[in-house]
Amino acid sequence: MIRPAAGADLAALGLLWERYRIEADDSRFRDQASWGHWVLPRISAGDVRVGTADRTINSYVVWQRAASAGIAGGRVLRILELYVHPDGRGERLGSGLLARAIDAARQRECRAVALVSNIADPAVRALAAPFGFMPEGDCLVLALQRE
Ligand SMILES: CC(C)(COP(=O)(O)OP(=O)(O)OC[C@H]1O[C@@H](n2cnc3c(N)ncnc32)[C@H](O)[C@@H]1OP(=O)(O)O)[C@@H](O)C(=O)NCCC(=O)NCCS
Repeated sequence: MIRPAAGADLAALGLLWERYRIEADDSRFRDQASWGHWVLPRISAGDVRVGTADRTINSYVVWQRAASAGIAGGRVLRILELYVHPDGRGERLGSGLLARAIDAARQRECRAVALVSNIADPAVRALAAPFGFMPEGDCLVLALQRE
């Protein structure tokens, strides 16, 4: 099941983030506390989704909408973290979380979605390709049609 994250999820998300940080080699934050200060406003803004199995959080995605001169020349939804715990992989949680991010980008009238973390990982590329993401600079980018 995939649902919006709530403030009460912060402790469970922090433990998952520790695994993500190591596996994705993401050094933006030095510890869980500083990551927590960053992610809590994102949770409040509705920019975090969690995946669960037996009510335990085992996956998450964090995005942020930003103006970008480079990518698609307009508003872009940047997927900053996307992670599925090794025990939960292969259950289509990654695809489901990515689809939620794309839905949010369409609702917020973004012109593109950009995956920005760990894009050299073959699993990340294999996950994103069927959605239409293409390499562009340091990102994998999905251009959205105007509807
Ligand atoms: C990439 C990741 C999110 C995939 O999550 P997942 O829930 O296992 O993915 P899904 O079950 O939705 O897989 C969907 C498709 O992606 C592809 N895929 C996923 N993992 C793959 C792998 N390890 N190797 C090859 N293809 C893979 C497959 O095509 C798969 O379709 P299939 O099941 O029909 O074969 C997960 O492996 C992960 O968290 N990896 C490390 C995280 C990371 O580095 N994140 C940084 C990016 S922001």
